[in-house]
Amino acid sequence: MSLPRVAILISGSGSNMVSLVQAMQGGAVAADPALVLSNRPEAGGLARAGTLGVETAVVDHKAYPDREAFEAAMLERLHAAQPDVICLAGFMRILTPGFVGAWEGRMLNIHPSLLPLFPGLHTHARALEAGMAVHGATVHQVIADLDAGPIVGQAVIPVEAGDTPQTLAARLLPVEHRLYPRALDHFLSGDKAPLALL
Ligand code: GRF
Repeated sequence: MSLPRVAILISGSGSNMVSLVQAMQGGAVAADPALVLSNRPEAGGLARAGTLGVETAVVDHKAYPDREAFEAAMLERLHAAQPDVICLAGFMRILTPGFVGAWEGRMLNIHPSLLPLFPGLHTHARALEAGMAVHGATVHQVIADLDAGPIVGQAVIPVEAGDTPQTLAARLLPVEHRLYPRALDHFLSGDKAPLALL
């Protein structure tokens, strides 16, 4: 039986992408990394994916007149790679309902907060401003609303005295790297109960 094919969409350094690819290549997640696609040609993750032997592609949003044209180009590139699942991993473009609808139920995202708290940007600063005792990350299915959709898994870290947005982000990122492969595996298993990494 062939393994599910996973395409990973990135915009930046791609550290979550690396953890997903390594988990698939190491056998911890029974899936194949089919493609790493970036909307930014300068994304550091492209070289890291190449080093891991994964096919890469760039669809530069700046080269298209509008979101629909950009997404049509992405869809064309994605269809060529035949993914069963798309993982957004630090992908910093808002997707239209049309694109999301085409992949609904087959697209995951990782967000650096305990959703439904703090959707959007600056999650670490907002968690500190809110006086949170804990912070965390969420892997969720992507729906048309931003940073919403069924939760696949969450990981929690304590907020420590003296934390800044930077220290909190730095402590959360390695936890994200553990969460995303576990959540992908959980999602592929078909288990609908959300996974907790405490
Ligand atoms: C992660 O914190 C992720 O949760 C957020 O953007 C960051 C991406 O980092 N959406 P990387 O590109 O995976 O290194």
